Amino acid sequence: MMTMMATTTTTSRRMRMGSADGAMKRWRLPEPVSELRSDGFQFLHEALFLEEQGSTESQLILSLYQLGSSNLEKAIQACQAPNRGPTSSEERDYVAQKCSEMVLSLEQARQRVQALSQSPVTRPKSGPTSSWESSLRSYSYPETPTKKKNPTHRARIKASGAQRPPMVSSSMTRNDRYHEDDRDESRSSHEKSLKSSIVSGLSGIGFDDVIGQEKAKQSLRESVILPILRPELFHGLRTPTRGLLLFGPPGNGKTLLVKALASETQAVLFSITAASLTSKYVGEGEKMMKTLFQMAAKRAPSIIFIDEIDSLLSERKGDQNEASLRMKTEFLAGFDGVQTCQDTHVLVIGATNRPEQLDLAALRRFSKRIFVEIPDFQARFTLLSQLLSKHGDPLPKEDLALVAKATAGYSGSDLTNLARDAAFGPIRDIPTSGILQVDRRNLRAINLNDFRNGLKRIRVSITNDVLQRYHEWNAKFGDVSSQ
Ligand SMILES: Nc1ncnc2c1ncn2[C@@H]1O[C@H](COP(=O)(O)OP(=O)(O)O)[C@@H](O)[C@H]1O
Ligand SMILES: [Mg+2]
Repeated sequence: MMTMMATTTTTSRRMRMGSADGAMKRWRLPEPVSELRSDGFQFLHEALFLEEQGSTESQLILSLYQLGSSNLEKAIQACQAPNRGPTSSEERDYVAQKCSEMVLSLEQARQRVQALSQSPVTRPKSGPTSSWESSLRSYSYPETPTKKKNPTHRARIKASGAQRPPMVSSSMTRNDRYHEDDRDESRSSHEKSLKSSIVSGLSGIGFDDVIGQEKAKQSLRESVILPILRPELFHGLRTPTRGLLLFGPPGNGKTLLVKALASETQAVLFSITAASLTSKYVGEGEKMMKTLFQMAAKRAPSIIFIDEIDSLLSERKGDQNEASLRMKTEFLAGFDGVQTCQDTHVLVIGATNRPEQLDLAALRRFSKRIFVEIPDFQARFTLLSQLLSKHGDPLPKEDLALVAKATAGYSGSDLTNLARDAAFGPIRDIPTSGILQVDRRNLRAINLNDFRNGLKRIRVSITNDVLQRYHEWNAKFGDVSSQ
């Protein structure tokens, strides 16, 4: 059921992501609609939360469902009101989609109301409501804290004769909520350690911060974001892959892409470096792996991201010790479990700079393999200009283009280092004795010459031979469908 997860386009980022062409469009629901919708979902969320806690306050739960439903009804009406509509057809589609999601959610909420009125103790744990339940559970609220709105919201619950249920902060994303609020769970020490690997969606990094890599972003949208937002569209033959590999030369945004994914999707994201599993949890790797898959299944839809996966899954070598072999076996077993369990949406993403080290058993499981390449001219230009924007865009476009041209073969992180080096140019000009006194406003702007000097110090980190090998591996094993 798509419903509330798809309705979480409360950030402009998510709205843009939802656009058909992935272009940077910002669509918003008209003001009264978005507020009613947000309130509606919040009431429903609270009702569900209470039900999940096994609360016996059926009257309160019922009131919350009713309040939620009535808010959604009003939002739908406002959405459909004439002359209020958006101007472009794409925007109209967007509003229509949000509207139909609300209709579906409303229908489900009404069913809950009916079920509860007849038998107040039934809980929506399984059956037809379960996917709705999981969508609702992952509904995240506007990132801007609704300080102004909360008192009215509370007042309304109070007015309905209901006590406000314990609720986690409404400005949190689903990932953050797991950080904050599962005190009730009796967790093993492994679970506790793994909990710190849950990436917060509030890290502030989004897809827009990853420059270039359009193919990788598109693949992630198709294989990760959309199936989680619209599971009902992605079943049968369209069941998305459960294993996705990002590979390519170091420093081009593989890790960054997955960080950005945390804020773009509503899935819980566990991010782990393979090396940390082997070193940090010596002898415990196997159990950690098992717990990781169990936690991910419990929190589905979820994503397990294993960075530098080659160190976990490299071809069996003589020096591989028994413990790491057992961990690898546990990983493969967990992975297989994920692939055979259609109902639980757990996705495994691996990233590696050394794809050729992966053995065939591993490759078979990562059925989608995305090449994260070094930036082309356009991406270099954009990255440089984004980096320099923090310093007031000191270089004219023509100069930026010259730098972008001179940096063919540079990785994203090489470029970042170059810009950092150039940014020190104005400081280097000041005699050491004067640095402590200098006023920041009197510093000269960064210029082309700083970049020229920087280019002498910061060189390409990836040779053509190495690049060639990535291309060959990509041609043999990579996902070349969109090329
Ligand atoms: N496509 C990109 N867009 C923006 N910054 C990038 C990009 N690629 C690399 N960087 C910069 O380089 C750093 C390292 O990138 P990272 O994602 O860790 O590379 P990888 O995982 O591919 O080795 C990032 O933190 C970022 O500063
Ligand atoms: Mg990395």
